[in-house]
Amino acid sequence: MLLTLAEVLDSQTLTDTRNSLKTLTWRDGGTTAGGRAKKAKKNEQADLRSGKGAKLHDALMAILKAHPVVQAAARPKRFSRLLISKTETAGGYGFHTDNAIMGPAGSRLRSDISFTLFLSQPDEYEGGELTIDLPGAVQSLKPAAGDMVLYPSSSIHQVAPVTSGTRLACVGWIESMVRDPSQRELLFDLENLRAELVGKLPGQSAELLTLDKSISNLLRMWAEV
Ligand code: NI
Repeated sequence: MLLTLAEVLDSQTLTDTRNSLKTLTWRDGGTTAGGRAKKAKKNEQADLRSGKGAKLHDALMAILKAHPVVQAAARPKRFSRLLISKTETAGGYGFHTDNAIMGPAGSRLRSDISFTLFLSQPDEYEGGELTIDLPGAVQSLKPAAGDMVLYPSSSIHQVAPVTSGTRLACVGWIESMVRDPSQRELLFDLENLRAELVGKLPGQSAELLTLDKSISNLLRMWAEV
């Protein structure tokens, strides 16, 4: 499933985040890519391990974890640490696949869902689209700053070369409690149906109760917690 969530960061949080980024230390992004992806990656990454960077990391993570659509669409079991990348003219991250298993021993995760939270407005840079090769269609995405794209980690994807300006983005990975993407999609459809019906039916209606029961029982069948 490919999903764009609008305004995951409100404008104040976005401004605060961008201001905070100006004060951080940046390093060559190639150091965090694995294998052949390393050569394709031409960007810089913010130090989010200490001081202001760590604070920013935790604040962004709290927003992502609390987002109701992230919860409903991804059913997160674990999040990776976040990376913030800066891609300038002639930078990019050529077509690659993400590592299936990530993180240090003791906090490993399986990457099921990749996400990009855009921190620059589309008119601040040329090129730099997130391009995802999905069955039957190549999607090229360049949403507004504050928007977030969720896409399958199993896909081949790239950050197209930036030809002018600066592209800032926060990326990360989610291991889902529901490993099978088609099962996740079915649960997401039912959650969306539920949200539609809540406005139209009394809370104790037989229809809503049956839907609640079905969502819960599917989770019992499919979720690994
Ligand atoms: Ni990637």
